[in-house]
Amino acid sequence: MTRTRLDAHIAALDAPEGLKTVLTVVAATCADISKVVAGGALAGALGASGQINVQDEEQKKLDVMTNDMLTEALLASPAVAGVASEEMDEVQPASNPAGEYLVLFDPLDGSSNIDINAPVGTIVSVLKSATATPTEADFMQSGRHQVAALYAVYGPQTMLVLTTGAGVKGFTLSNDGDWILTHDEIAISPDTKEFAINMSNLRHWAEPVQTYVGDLLKGEEGPRAKNFNMRWVAAMVADVHRILMRGGVFLYPWDRREPNKPGKLRLMYEGNPMAFLVEQAGGKATTDGRQAILDVQPEHLHQRIPVALGSANEIDAYAGV
Ligand code: AHG
Ligand code: MN
Ligand code: MN
Repeated sequence: MTRTRLDAHIAALDAPEGLKTVLTVVAATCADISKVVAGGALAGALGASGQINVQDEEQKKLDVMTNDMLTEALLASPAVAGVASEEMDEVQPASNPAGEYLVLFDPLDGSSNIDINAPVGTIVSVLKSATATPTEADFMQSGRHQVAALYAVYGPQTMLVLTTGAGVKGFTLSNDGDWILTHDEIAISPDTKEFAINMSNLRHWAEPVQTYVGDLLKGEEGPRAKNFNMRWVAAMVADVHRILMRGGVFLYPWDRREPNKPGKLRLMYEGNPMAFLVEQAGGKATTDGRQAILDVQPEHLHQRIPVALGSANEIDAYAGV
């Protein structure tokens, strides 16, 4: 059986050449990142960098290395007008006169997993730019404006999961370094018995979230009348990947620890690209069970947002509490 390669899939897309170039550059860089991740201690990729990012988080060496790899590759691509990253304070215009696309990324998602050899990933969102000389204001587009979203997950297999607005496809990185289509038409089952939330934050959640999770934990004897299982990889990429493969819900709600912050996850680098993929796979991606993440008008680049996404009927149940 001849399998489809990502480059053939990209070439056949009904999309402008510039977008195809962006996707090609991102995919090649994710394949390179996969080698650095796999090298671990041998690639000098473990441990802290000693720097703090704009999110006030300690950067790992791998956060910095992957951010540099993506930034350098994308700014050198003529199709790119500018980039923005979780790891950089400001947007970076590309100085490409024909640049048409804005690329936003979380270069290394799940940083706390790096040193324990657990899954991490890269998340990418692509927007059209109104100008070849963009400023931060040009990036302030709701997720509905995304023309592509993808993630790479560096797990037992390295996979790249992509949408350009016509469904979701998954590609596995072969030992020869090619992305091969292995998961066609990825669809999220509407019902599930699996949830993902950081339970250690339970006492900080708002009452309805505590009630919802409490009902799940009551199992067959409770109001939901079924037993639920729980998973938490601590890398959104890996948790969302599991949901795309076998259903489930992923929740990172607002909590009382830092009441001024709407949530932990970032709208532009995590919420929007994952919401585009989840909706394209038939799931729901919301802030609270009701409001679609993709409809949120961003106000600033590093904005945070509560996240509730996954199997459609379970997100409705979350909204109903
Ligand atoms: P990042 O490594 O890019 O900062 O993102 C980590 C995020 C997300 O991937 C994950 O789901 C969540 O933080 C884990 O949070 P806890 O530390 O509460 O487990
Ligand atoms: Mn992240
Ligand atoms: Mn990150």
